Amino acid sequence: MSSASPTTQPEVSVPAAAAGGGRPRVLSGIQPTADSFHFGNYLGALRQWVDLQIDYQPFFFIADMHAITVDYDPLVLRERTLRAAAQLLAMGVDPERASIFVQSQVPAHAQGAWVLQCLTGVGEARRMTQFKDKSAKGGEGSASVGLLTYPILQAADILLYRPYYVPVGADQRQHLELTRDLAQRFNSRYKKTFRLPEPYILKATGKIGDLQEPTAKMSKSASSPSGIIEMLDEPTLSAKKIRSAVTDSGSEIRFDPEEKPGVSNLLTIYSALTQRSVPDLEEEYTGKGYGDFKKDLAEVVIDFVTPFRDRTLELLADQAYLSEILRQGRERANEVAEATLRDVYQRVGFVAADLGKGPASIG
Ligand code: AMP
Ligand code: TRP
Repeated sequence: MSSASPTTQPEVSVPAAAAGGGRPRVLSGIQPTADSFHFGNYLGALRQWVDLQIDYQPFFFIADMHAITVDYDPLVLRERTLRAAAQLLAMGVDPERASIFVQSQVPAHAQGAWVLQCLTGVGEARRMTQFKDKSAKGGEGSASVGLLTYPILQAADILLYRPYYVPVGADQRQHLELTRDLAQRFNSRYKKTFRLPEPYILKATGKIGDLQEPTAKMSKSASSPSGIIEMLDEPTLSAKKIRSAVTDSGSEIRFDPEEKPGVSNLLTIYSALTQRSVPDLEEEYTGKGYGDFKKDLAEVVIDFVTPFRDRTLELLADQAYLSEILRQGRERANEVAEATLRDVYQRVGFVAADLGKGPASIG
């Protein structure tokens, strides 16, 4: 089997939850920059959020501060933030287990980011490929400084919670590497404060392709509407998009990302949604055509998105419930993040606001 074969194994081994004591933490975030999550978000990252909440203590947040690093509309941002919260609940994030919160409501993220910015080289920040990609259109000169420091805020988001794992898609790998570098730098310059988190990226679904251009990732900013499956779209529309997804030359249904990127991407989606292995699906479709295969997958997609969409719409109609969940999440997040920030501030030499509580001497 080639190394590109899908596997449901993460690239890191998952230790059993810590014996006794609290469960080890996981943390991740998603930007509220679209009306709906898409299949790339879900299969690449969010589904792992749901899975990990069993053995880990999760902190999941909506990265509204990251969302203002590019042009946006404030009214739309507010609406999308709530939509994101509703979708997380609808897909199975359990507010009894997980703290779900809005990034801007936990001030320690911005405060921690400032300290980390002072440890990051301008050249180091400029080398991030996401910054290069996003600033390429208008030129670096007109990109916001926030876009440049985006990954440093992300590092603060993560490090403040001292998580074991950060479940994300493959496009976030470089930001996770920077996060680890900054953690190490802080720990060696001051005192061991941060845990070095591991990215939790699934080989099989870490990069879901665009349905029309399968070698490119499905992306809310770059994909054409027919290339992206929005989780909240009318299910029949999503089914239609699957049926008109590009397939490759030949007629065989075979997992081969080099020769058959379109079919392989559909097999990945099919396998992820049904928990059936790719070889099993290949066998089932031996001798059948692309048409049958896509028709069946379209049905699978309808069955999957319909209850998700209904549940999200239901939750969106109950804003009092949503804001209560976000309030609880914010409280738990603030507690953890502030405690770490206090250590950070003390170690960098800031005078404690309450001198009676903190050490007033050097050392
Ligand atoms: P974003 O919408 O950029 O905030 O991304 C949210 C999460 O979805 C991140 O963990 C991304 O890495 C992940 N993600 C976005 N697009 C894809 C994709 N096409 N395939 C896999 N993961 C993705
Ligand atoms: N940059 C991430 C993305 O685009 C979103 C994000 C912000 C994030 N802060 C984070 C993800 C912290 C994981 C951990 O998907």
